[in-house]
Amino acid sequence: MLSPRPGQTKLRSWASSCLTGLVLASSEASVYSFHGQSVREERPGIIEGQGVMASNGSASSHITLNNGRQMPVVGLGTWQAAPGVVGAAVDAAVRGGYRHIDCAYAYFNEKEVGDALQKLFKEGVVKREDLWITSKLWNDHHGPEEPFKCLETTLTNLQLEYLDLYLIHWPVPLNKGYTWPLQPHMFDTTRSIKEDTKETWQAMEKIAESGKARSIGVSNFSAKKLEDMMEYAKVVPAVNQAYSPLGTWGTSGVKINLLDHPLLTKIGEKYGRTPAQVSLRWGVQMGNSVLPKSTKAERVKENLQVSDFSLSDEDMSELEKLEQTRFLQGTFWVNDSGSFYKKAEDLWDGEGI
Ligand code: A2P
Repeated sequence: MLSPRPGQTKLRSWASSCLTGLVLASSEASVYSFHGQSVREERPGIIEGQGVMASNGSASSHITLNNGRQMPVVGLGTWQAAPGVVGAAVDAAVRGGYRHIDCAYAYFNEKEVGDALQKLFKEGVVKREDLWITSKLWNDHHGPEEPFKCLETTLTNLQLEYLDLYLIHWPVPLNKGYTWPLQPHMFDTTRSIKEDTKETWQAMEKIAESGKARSIGVSNFSAKKLEDMMEYAKVVPAVNQAYSPLGTWGTSGVKINLLDHPLLTKIGEKYGRTPAQVSLRWGVQMGNSVLPKSTKAERVKENLQVSDFSLSDEDMSELEKLEQTRFLQGTFWVNDSGSFYKKAEDLWDGEGI
């Protein structure tokens, strides 16, 4: 557990990722500000996503990414949404107003998400261009060629021609066919993390050029790893995604139920909102997009209702004073024999563990 460190933009961006789960253009703007003004000037637009607050203090419904694309602020998370129920959750979400669905090859449910989307298109509920669909490149498809294959599998499963956003899921190269948990010989140590990320990112840039992913980014990257990418990246990542805007209660290894925190309840009572809505709203007001996962129709609905109220400055400061922790530390990638990462600190380059 760590305390927030006011004034340190890098750690503030980390802090928001811990509680809200998703660090987007806004936080990257902080990360890249380490490179000074020139980065901002050379890549105009990277600061654009910094605020999602409209001038009247209400949250806008989209974030502008560094390439000018508009991403809906609230999306449906599909990690740990089991086959058999994820399709119904996507259906309820889109019918209820969601326009952003977050997927990944490694969630092993993209086919069912795709079936649900096709049904929605066929029934005329939405058109493809009304939706923002994100997916992620899995760790066993890093390298110069493999990302294209992973993307093709994802597009086939989702039954789509293109993604709105494609992310490198983790800075963790694995040998072909491995997912997790830890298994012997799973780690691909033929290249350093830096080399692996460079090769993989260059493939991602080609994917962006091909139009099969309209924006590209990363996930679970430390500020240090993002900085390393700036040595060769022609396309600056549009997003650095973290996860668990609700604290991902129920996930193995997670010991605290964030939604039981008395401060969330107390603040929620003031606004007539649930702890989940307070947590999500905090994330949005911090300038992030949030991707709450639920397969329960009522909760899916509740989680979208975070744009019609604002937390006061006082409540925001109270929430910022909370002790902060990274709910999921990626310890499944930490291994003494075989992994690049011997300790969780190595994975996160010492940031926020
Ligand atoms: P369920 O899918 O049964 O609704 P995160 O998005 O941070 O990973 O958190 C997901 C967890 O939070 C899941 O256990 C999910 O359960 C639960 N959850 C999602 N929405 C709500 C809500 N509005 N209130 C309480 N728990 C929620």
